[in-house]
Amino acid sequence: MSNLLVTGGAGFIGANFVHYWMKAYPEDNVIVLDALTYAGNKANLNPVAENPNFVFCHGDICDTVLVETLLREHQVDTLVHFAAESHVDRSITGPDAFIETNIIGTHSLLKAAKKVWLDESLHKENHRFHHVSTDEVYGTLEPNDPAFSETTPYAPNSPYSASKAASDHLVRAYHHTYGLNVTTSNCSNNYGPYHFPEKLIPLVITNILHDKPLPIYGDGQQIRDWLYVEDHARGIESVIKKGRLGECYNIGGINEWANIDIVQEICAMVDEEFSRDQKLAETYPEAKSAIAAQSDSLITFVKDRAGHDRRYAIDPVKSNTELGYSPKETFATGLRKTVAWYLNNQDWWRAVMDGSYQSWVEEQYQIPETDVGV
Ligand code: NAD
Ligand code: TYD
Repeated sequence: MSNLLVTGGAGFIGANFVHYWMKAYPEDNVIVLDALTYAGNKANLNPVAENPNFVFCHGDICDTVLVETLLREHQVDTLVHFAAESHVDRSITGPDAFIETNIIGTHSLLKAAKKVWLDESLHKENHRFHHVSTDEVYGTLEPNDPAFSETTPYAPNSPYSASKAASDHLVRAYHHTYGLNVTTSNCSNNYGPYHFPEKLIPLVITNILHDKPLPIYGDGQQIRDWLYVEDHARGIESVIKKGRLGECYNIGGINEWANIDIVQEICAMVDEEFSRDQKLAETYPEAKSAIAAQSDSLITFVKDRAGHDRRYAIDPVKSNTELGYSPKETFATGLRKTVAWYLNNQDWWRAVMDGSYQSWVEEQYQIPETDVGV
């Protein structure tokens, strides 16, 4: 039996991880620490809210004393660290929050873990600090470059990825210098249920349902390597259970897609759902293009993101061979599940797309002048 502290558990991946873990390990206790920023939503934890082994704490990872208290009071032996500012576009317009949460916040957790686990000897030998990071720390790839491996030098290009890279180095240093039991996972782009609709895949689905333009940055040929969120949760589980201390593991499913192709794929899937299920036209009367099976007519090329990384790709050999990890979903099955989830959960996404989110979106999309051939 373990007591887990999960930071950022009210966000997209953290919440999916908590759902997965509490099903897989019903005897474990899970404490979620989350500041409930615009990206955090307590409703994401509804599936476990009634579980007597689940506790929610509304608080900031930068509050070191609070973290120490949680570690002591709940006898935490495993800390899984998801909490972060995670959206690249927001890191371009407002990098300060990324430095605060991703760097200072991670350091606050490391200090608390060192104090309680090492200095005060709670679970001195048997503790784990698992840090959830991203493939974006490795920078960008040319079309024919080999995929990122764990030995690829760090070369972060956005304030987001630079702040994550800094946090990865701090985690490494606390292992090397103080002997804290750490592991790190660097995962590719995730998709699935509870994904905040400012990110590409949920943005496209919800914009189709509002009959709004589908903004494609630049020429749409940027490549991302996509993993279904539950497969990420399973990857983290493998690292926690079987990973070597002090090691980093890349998690991915060899699934590279150009943005424009994903958007076309989503348009086709939504159109198919609308023609298969006539009730959707009544549920989403605004979705005129989907009703006419022409969602792709909403595709709009817009100004490119500043410093936009061209390609990410994960080499998952180390996690495959050393941990026996491989994803369960294909992109076709995962994307279909995701589209179905958004079609069936409009209450969720309408609630998270509140006024402040809408005004941020309006600001972003005041830049729809095309700088590439449409
Ligand atoms: P998210 O933005 O959906 O959720 C982040 C959560 O952290 C939110 O619930 C938010 O309220 C919380 N949070 C933010 N600042 C906090 C603070 N100071 N104290 C406590 N809680 C705070 O992010 P996500 O997409 O779920 O990503 C989770 C982690 O996975 C991040 O560390 C991210 O870098 C990493 N990651 C994400 C992806 C991806 O595709 N989304 C891929 C690889 C790695
Ligand atoms: P995003 O979901 O923001 O993830 P990340 O930037 O962390 O990879 O974006 C995925 C890709 O989609 C990225 O290349 C930027 C692009 N993109 C668009 O073309 N249009 C959009 O409206 C958004 C949000 C992203």
